[in-house]
Amino acid sequence: MMVTAMNVKELIHYATLAPSGHNTQPWKFSIDDNVIRVIPDFERRLPVVDPDDHALYISLGCALENLMIAAKRHGLSSTIDYFPPDEKSECLRITLSPNGDPGDEDLFDAIHVRQSNRSLYDKNEIPEGHIHKLIESNIFDTVFLKSFDPNKQASEPIINLVKEANRIQFNDRQFVEELLSWIRFTKKEMNNRKDGLTAEVMGFPFVPRWLGRLILKTFAKPESEASKSEKQIRSSSLLMLFISKKHDKRHWVDLGRSFERVALTATSLGLAHAHLNMPCEVESVRNKLSSHLELDHDKQPLLFIRFGYAEERPRSPRRPAEEVIMQSDTR
Ligand SMILES: Cc1cc2nc3c(=O)[nH]c(=O)nc-3n(C[C@H](O)[C@H](O)[C@H](O)COP(=O)(O)O)c2cc1C
Repeated sequence: MMVTAMNVKELIHYATLAPSGHNTQPWKFSIDDNVIRVIPDFERRLPVVDPDDHALYISLGCALENLMIAAKRHGLSSTIDYFPPDEKSECLRITLSPNGDPGDEDLFDAIHVRQSNRSLYDKNEIPEGHIHKLIESNIFDTVFLKSFDPNKQASEPIINLVKEANRIQFNDRQFVEELLSWIRFTKKEMNNRKDGLTAEVMGFPFVPRWLGRLILKTFAKPESEASKSEKQIRSSSLLMLFISKKHDKRHWVDLGRSFERVALTATSLGLAHAHLNMPCEVESVRNKLSSHLELDHDKQPLLFIRFGYAEERPRSPRRPAEEVIMQSDTR
């Protein structure tokens, strides 16, 4: 199969369906024949919750993995150069070539269906074979997965760390302001921006921004948020921690790729998932988590995910491919 402009744009569409912290979609793309570059968009950073940008690079890794799964499904193979020094700006460079290997249909089909589902789950047990499939879908030896049963005593210290981090974050005015700035309270805001966390995704109705801010500031208090997280955890069937071998850009991208593969596998098995990253986001709590798990110095727990069964939720918006593709000479 030839690599055409048409299918390159389609591949970028699949990349844009990837998850990202606060749905910032911190990516841009450029195309040169059979080369696609995934470029970090630092205007979409989250300086309060993600000061070292590790979540930004994890999100880029998720987009990269979607792109590669879609390329394979379109009969294309891809090689990746991580941050090649000969480029004008920092990027992940993907070179496509015809291949013929049809790729993984289940993962590809799940790209459109996957979503972060913040509702309460139904506590039903996940078959052992499905847990194995989730673990096996991580193909990176730089990423370690640790699973926990939320209803076993061994998970209690970790649940307490989630709550501790929740309290710290919701006591921090800058954290709350940053979060509020990414909430799209009205349909108009959602349709104009096509990013961020919409009211309906967060579980409340569309309301004017001033009212939404007031409601959140009144009700999203440290203790109520901690107790909400606890309820969400206790309704889940499985918890999984994603641990990076090292704390640098390349490892963060690979952790994102690994997470996306696990999330797509979960989706293909009918499992819902959502993030509980608070203990990974607050550095002091992350250190406590690492000590509790007796992780070596370099290793970093960066994503904490719950899995279970739940009804589908409203979808998060995305900017279309045309809005995130740059002209090569404007990079
Ligand atoms: C690196 C990363 C960090 C995230 N952190 C959180 C989080 O702390 N809490 C949360 O509810 N969702 C979190 N998410 C999920 C995003 O909010 C979600 O992907 C985004 O809103 C788009 O929605 P979707 O996943 O349903 O497509 C995170 C996602 C990524 C990739």
